[in-house]
Amino acid sequence: MGHHKALAPENAVKHFIKRAGKYNSSSRWVNDAVLIGKMRDLAEAGSEDNVLDIATGTGKIAQTFQGKVKYVVGVDICREMARQAKHFVDYIILAAAENLPLKNNIFDVCVCRQGLQFMELKDVLSEIHRVLKPGGRIVLCHLTAYSDQDKDESFLIQRLRNPARKNFFLPDDVPSLLKDNAFMDIDFSEHISKESVNRWVGNASISKNAKKQINQLYRDASCDFKKIHRLKFENNDIFDSMRMIIVKARKRGNNA
Ligand SMILES: C[S@@+](CC[C@H](N)C(=O)[O-])C[C@H]1O[C@@H](n2cnc3c(N)ncnc32)[C@H](O)[C@@H]1O
Repeated sequence: MGHHKALAPENAVKHFIKRAGKYNSSSRWVNDAVLIGKMRDLAEAGSEDNVLDIATGTGKIAQTFQGKVKYVVGVDICREMARQAKHFVDYIILAAAENLPLKNNIFDVCVCRQGLQFMELKDVLSEIHRVLKPGGRIVLCHLTAYSDQDKDESFLIQRLRNPARKNFFLPDDVPSLLKDNAFMDIDFSEHISKESVNRWVGNASISKNAKKQINQLYRDASCDFKKIHRLKFENNDIFDSMRMIIVKARKRGNNA
């Protein structure tokens, strides 16, 4: 797993302030009903369950639980994103996921889609562990490289796409971390999202220069990368089959 500690979390806030207005249309996966449905089903949240959505953003994941569970709480560090979530949550909290202003053992389910890459992982996992009830479930989803074969090129592109990114994942990284941090019943599956590069580079937060570099990296990509990512060059656009991982686990405890 790659880690770039030099960048402070404020950079994530700056990035998402610029991106907030266009966020909901900035990638195909944002509104992908199949992906959202997979996360919802894995969470197995019932009408008596409390759900925490970490890095809720505009509330796309929170929304799928709203009205079906006891209550949904959204947490995000960026006001411009979080204010768009307020209709889809019962409570919204502006805070860093690494330092949650929440009591111990109160949630049955904690979900987080595409947030971990911006966070101090040990701190956020320890906070999730603290606020979950014993036996509580966690469902995480994030972009990964496919394997060692494509990781260098994938990580370069991911870094240009979002300089606030601190963590660059391979599929096994987060499952291993969960194991080391007192979670059990860890399982993961992949979700491939065919993304238009033009669409995500137009997300209002990527500089002209970074856009140029991203396009060049795709055009000059190795044969392995082109094959693994099933790159398609069509109508002046590039389509990248990006790999996401959905991870499920449980906090050890009573219901184990
Ligand atoms: C790519 S968006 C994902 C939003 C939402 N989970 C979704 O799936 O659409 C990432 C979100 O993480 C938030 N974020 C970044 N660092 C954070 C931190 N340390 N604590 C809480 N939220 C953070 C950003 O403000 C942004 O809203």
